[in-house]
Amino acid sequence: MENKLLELTLQRRSVRRYKNTRIDDAIIEEIMKVALTAPTSFGHKAVEFVVVRDSEVIRQVGECKSLGGSQVSGADTVVVTMVKTKDKRQSEFWIEDGAIASAYVLLAAEQYGLGACWVHIRNRTGNHKSSDEEIRKLLGVPDGYTVLNLVAIGEKAEIKAPYTEDDLDMSLVHYGSF
Ligand SMILES: Cc1cc2nc3c(=O)[nH]c(=O)nc-3n(C[C@H](O)[C@H](O)[C@H](O)COP(=O)(O)O)c2cc1C
Repeated sequence: MENKLLELTLQRRSVRRYKNTRIDDAIIEEIMKVALTAPTSFGHKAVEFVVVRDSEVIRQVGECKSLGGSQVSGADTVVVTMVKTKDKRQSEFWIEDGAIASAYVLLAAEQYGLGACWVHIRNRTGNHKSSDEEIRKLLGVPDGYTVLNLVAIGEKAEIKAPYTEDDLDMSLVHYGSF
């Protein structure tokens, strides 16, 4: 049975090394359009993004995560996913909202044959404060937002074997009852 989405999700792997090639602005914009189609709790659309394309700023964003942040350095683009958490009503599901949008970004990048990787930020520390606070200060994000994660995107410089259907453990799916 044709399943184009499965073909795409099998292909997607976390890619952490990138070539030094510039991705077209138009492709990044298409990827961000996909992110905006993600479902959000109560339809609040509380997720926002800062798309960073300047290599020096990307390096500085990476420095806001003391352990493992430097991996974003070679990326062409870093999508910083943040959620409006000021309003308690909107923020109940902020992690879920941000995570779904970021997953959409990962899949959209793969659709264009680009490498991408989730880099975690929530509950991580920077040099002096939390990674969240340092990133918000660096990027001029107003109060009332919390950064969940980054998605680094670039042309793949490492080739990982795609998953196959043999990798799918169908015993994890329980029909009717556990
Ligand atoms: C919530 C979450 C946090 C993650 N954090 C990081 C991270 O900080 N750095 C990183 O290199 N990869 C991170 N990853 C990517 C995972 O390591 C990766 O998805 C996993 O090893 C499976 O590999 P695959 O993506 O190639 O299937 C994260 C993924 C998720 C879903």
